[in-house]
Amino acid sequence: MRQFTEDTLTDAVLARLKDAKNPRFKQIIASAVKHLHGFARDVQLTEEEWFEGIKFLTAVGQKCDDKRQEFILLSDILGLSMMVVALNHKTPPGATEATVLGPFFVHGAPEFEYGADFTKGASVEGETTWVTVYDIQDPEAEFELRGRVLTNAEGRYAFKTYKPQFYGVPDDGPVGDLLRAMGRHPMRPAHMHAIVSADGYQQVITHVFVAGDPYLDSDAVFAVKESLIGDFRKVDSPAEAKTLGLPAPFLRLEWDFHLAPAGTGQTRRTVAASDAVT
Ligand code: BEZ
Ligand code: FE
Repeated sequence: MRQFTEDTLTDAVLARLKDAKNPRFKQIIASAVKHLHGFARDVQLTEEEWFEGIKFLTAVGQKCDDKRQEFILLSDILGLSMMVVALNHKTPPGATEATVLGPFFVHGAPEFEYGADFTKGASVEGETTWVTVYDIQDPEAEFELRGRVLTNAEGRYAFKTYKPQFYGVPDDGPVGDLLRAMGRHPMRPAHMHAIVSADGYQQVITHVFVAGDPYLDSDAVFAVKESLIGDFRKVDSPAEAKTLGLPAPFLRLEWDFHLAPAGTGQTRRTVAASDAVT
């Protein structure tokens, strides 16, 4: 058949997949075609609207470079990234839950021993409210407030850092325009990122969110999980501050990561009690 109608076109496109070699690829493309056609029918897409969509996706691509991944951001704010996390991480009870990696992970961060000070050399300083700009957006500050922390012989870790602050995902590109058109804000609740791994266990990509943050219920990328909200407790004791070499008062976050064994099943407590301090 050469000529198609809105009722026969979808099947015609699907039929052309008959020579595709990879079955998984075939399944994915077939489903994408069905959903795209279904979407166009559902909203009775006009040609102008179709072209707006093309222009938008073109702008998203043009905004990407080696530091800025606008397509991942698009996936994040549409909830697709968290859908993929949910589908792929059926966390066993007790294991630390996974959430989005985000576009700002930097490979090769320096390694620190137990008790290290992440704030050394940081271009931000002072009280908790200082960390207001996400540092990767500053090209001069690649590893600022980042590091690889090794556990000690007991599986414990500790480091000094600043309490995270809420911030906005980059909204100066087409994804920002989309957020505004949807009547949404770009804010993410305050959080720390962590990738935790140990031999024989499943690596987890996760966050620790800050209890009480005003954006916990409206994270722009839908990444909040109740089990990932931590209490940054104020410690007034000058003696404790002195022992840790910190100013008093300071904040303490005690946060255990639980990794699921490779395969599935029970979890082992591999990492315990951080002292994240400001
Ligand atoms: C982040 O927290 O690093 C992040 C996650 C998703 C989109 C933008 C930023
Ligand atoms: Fe972040």
